[in-house]
Amino acid sequence: MIRFEQVGKVYPDGTAAVRDLSFEVAEGELVTLVGPSGCGKTTTMMMVNRLIEPTSGRIFVEGRDISGVDPVALRRRMGYVIQDVGLFPHRTVLDNTATVPALIGWKRARARARAAELLDLVGLDPAAYGPRYPAQLSGGQRQRVGVARALAADPPVLLMDEPFGAVDPVVRERLQNEFLKLQAAMRKTVLMVTHDIEEAVRMGDRIAVYGEGHIEQYDSPAAVLGAPATPYVARFVGADRGLKRLSVTAVEPADLEEPPVASTDEPARDAAARMRAEGARWAVVLNSGGELHGWVSADALAGAGEGSSVGDFASRMEAWVPLGSPLKQAFSEMLQHDAGWVAVLDEAREARFLGVLTPAKLHEALRRSVDADAQGIGRDEVDFDSVSDA
Ligand SMILES: Nc1ncnc2c1ncn2[C@@H]1O[C@H](COP(=O)(O)OP(=O)(O)O)[C@@H](O)[C@H]1O
Ligand SMILES: [Mg+2]
Repeated sequence: MIRFEQVGKVYPDGTAAVRDLSFEVAEGELVTLVGPSGCGKTTTMMMVNRLIEPTSGRIFVEGRDISGVDPVALRRRMGYVIQDVGLFPHRTVLDNTATVPALIGWKRARARARAAELLDLVGLDPAAYGPRYPAQLSGGQRQRVGVARALAADPPVLLMDEPFGAVDPVVRERLQNEFLKLQAAMRKTVLMVTHDIEEAVRMGDRIAVYGEGHIEQYDSPAAVLGAPATPYVARFVGADRGLKRLSVTAVEPADLEEPPVASTDEPARDAAARMRAEGARWAVVLNSGGELHGWVSADALAGAGEGSSVGDFASRMEAWVPLGSPLKQAFSEMLQHDAGWVAVLDEAREARFLGVLTPAKLHEALRRSVDADAQGIGRDEVDFDSVSDA
């Protein structure tokens, strides 16, 4: 959907902001660009909608080299969300949200109806908030309006530059979760910039970790955390201190997430309805004996006919660990099965399914463990291969 081929950008003053960027974002994928300030994330993003032109290399969007695409037409295919939103202060929330549809010539009534629909989608009652002005909203609410506005013309691509950077941590986590729920339903192709590794891990299907002006590693969250490609990445994600701790930190009940669970013999339509209600992209599938069978995606179930059962659509997945096993084992299961999560089972009770561990939760557990370890561990003691070799 978006492809960078050896892209470089040198600003007129000689600053080489990025060099030799090559990566691809698949349709429906959410990719986070993460790295310290000044490493070239915003430059990368602004080259996608041609607010900045590369000085070398090529960028393709939907299969076309964008240097030959009219920038205005290009931007119509892309919602753009930035920190501090950039709402028009003298326009109401409803009119702000309707900006793009109005620009591209929708009739006023249709544009406003669409805006109201979007406000509702991001959790703002259009009747209450639509007539207000941006200054009459909290920071979190303004950010929601920014997302609604970016989605208003239903673009296939969403560019988000530190979208939740300006709000406090509690609101940020709520916005992140709301956005993930939305994304589960919309499946936009999303490029999201952040300097926060926690946010990158929580949000990203894949993560591009930036060093100065280039990508150090482009990989799944589990691989970035569990098998950092370079010492720089290990240091950036906090794994340089953490990897040693992985083998001595146990998976605890508090680390688990509880996605929807379906049974192989359950009617597919029932499971699909439950997942839709929860905004879930996938569910864990257990067999009729309650043992782990695998998983099923909401997409796979969407076309399920009368009389079919979940088992007809489920994929096998055997990444699991017993409760209490070391984090290192969970990481290595994830990497070995190329899985986005591992199931956690209670071995003492006939391998009962307890929940799943996601990379984000693994990372939290890792951090907790590192923080608890007042001693810390010297850089030279770190064995970077300790996880992938497990
Ligand atoms: N218009 C510009 N002219 C010159 N240098 C710039 C310009 N914009 C950004 N830079 C420089 O390019 C580098 C990358 O910036 P940027 O892409 O904004 O990084 P990030 O978003 O990761 O913080 C930085 O060194 C920054 O100072
Ligand atoms: Mg930036």
